[in-house]
Amino acid sequence: MKLGAFTTALLSIAAANAIEFKRDDILNVAHKRQVVSASSAARPGASATAPPAAPPPLDTGTGVPPLASITSGMPTQATLAPTTSYPPGATPPVKGAPVLPSAFVFSPADWPAQDRVPPPDSPQVKAWMKELEGHNIPNLNPTKDGTCASDPAAAAAAADRGWWTCGGHTRSTDVLACPDKLTWGVSFDDGPSPYTQKLLNYLTEKQILATFFVVGSRVIERPNVVVEEYMKGHEISVHTWSHRPLTTLTNEQIVAELGWTRLAIKRVLGVTPTTMRPPFGDIDDRVRAIALAMGMVPIIWTSTPATGPFDTNDWKVAAGMVTGQDSFNTFQSIFGNATSLNTGFIVLQHDLYEITVDLAIGYTLNAAQTHSPALKMLPIGQCMKMPTENLYIESNTNNTFPSHASTGIDTNGDGTLDAKSSVSAPGQGSSNGSSGFGTSPVPVMSALAALASFAAGLLL
Ligand SMILES: *[C@@H]1O[C@H](CO)[C@@H](O)[C@H](O)[C@H]1NC(C)=O
Ligand SMILES: *[C@@H]1O[C@H](CO)[C@@H](O)[C@H](O)[C@H]1NC(C)=O
Ligand SMILES: *[C@@H]1O[C@H](CO)[C@@H](O)[C@H](O)[C@H]1NC(C)=O
Repeated sequence: MKLGAFTTALLSIAAANAIEFKRDDILNVAHKRQVVSASSAARPGASATAPPAAPPPLDTGTGVPPLASITSGMPTQATLAPTTSYPPGATPPVKGAPVLPSAFVFSPADWPAQDRVPPPDSPQVKAWMKELEGHNIPNLNPTKDGTCASDPAAAAAAADRGWWTCGGHTRSTDVLACPDKLTWGVSFDDGPSPYTQKLLNYLTEKQILATFFVVGSRVIERPNVVVEEYMKGHEISVHTWSHRPLTTLTNEQIVAELGWTRLAIKRVLGVTPTTMRPPFGDIDDRVRAIALAMGMVPIIWTSTPATGPFDTNDWKVAAGMVTGQDSFNTFQSIFGNATSLNTGFIVLQHDLYEITVDLAIGYTLNAAQTHSPALKMLPIGQCMKMPTENLYIESNTNNTFPSHASTGIDTNGDGTLDAKSSVSAPGQGSSNGSSGFGTSPVPVMSALAALASFAAGLLL
């Protein structure tokens, strides 16, 4: 195999993409800034400043700089290589999931351009659009840029359209908080990045499991990191292909963003997630209906009337908008508020930048582990009491969810069904154990139904 030529080609692609990626990153950060100003405008009384708090002692094992040094432009450290390699055929720690497929080889011709909204008219997207048939997809116009401020007409109808980023409107199908008090559903968004390995090593050492909301454009760059996440027991969920605010996109574009990411994960891990997180939390009834029709439950993060969204603002440190100390203060006030909730909670953090990883492993995860009262830290599926096998369609045992559980979905968009839940069709007593089918049905989404009752209390 011409590994040398392949590596060179890959590196030049990576270099070209790095430039594009930075540009898009800036766009995304600019967008986040707007979302924040929109949501603080909608929350008079919510203060941007948090009380100063002493940082916890630095865990010297982590190699993380002092908190005061964690700022935009801080010197970068060497990135770490994967610690373990998992061969094709290895058995994942998910009951009924298929073994790892053959090692992922990135071939640019097989994928849409990274960090751009994939074309809406490809054969794959046309095939995936069929998954919407028979579902009621509300006929809502795309929003201007995903914020209230720029789109007064959409903002006026925010409650009707169930728009989360504009007023915090939720629906009973949204996952918003772990049900059990003092339980933190830990998650990291936007990876896998060059710094994810450092985070993974720390999580392994501390025996913490998390949910990784992965971006398709990053999955095809660092497949081995996603494999390590999955094989170590972390949960993998869809976080779109190019990280755009989904309410701004057409139905076809939303399907493309979710479909290509789902396919990238399937190619790398052999499984298809049944959950997703909308970038920026930007979801409304149209985006929700599309995600659910494609078999993905939306997961956002906790928001309370007093504090607004549980966003650590770690991404703002990377963007040079706040300091590491500011972000840590925000995190501490989130914890202060979280411990007074009757439910658990979900917080937004990122594994995209060295800064956000350093904040997590040096400070926030540290603070959580030494918190009094004690906090239980779990990946989101576990904290929601969703059986881990039901987080992926191939191992899912619920025959009514996802919507295509018993018929299957055309993951690669080639016109044939190729991912199917491991449910027995009604009346069928047994099925093929060697393919992971035939595990007994387990209640799965009832936790979601239970959420509806307290979701109302978490509205902004
Ligand atoms: C709750 O959040 C608010 C706003 O961020 C903050 O001022 C307050 O100190 C927090 N409460 C606790 C107990 O930390
Ligand atoms: C189960 O699946 C395996 C592999 O796909 C196949 O070889 C075997 O014949 C199947 N067994 C049954 C009972 O269908
Ligand atoms: C399957 O999912 C549906 C819908 O999300 C839920 O209402 C139902 O309780 C689940 N059924 C089983 C057997 O887990």
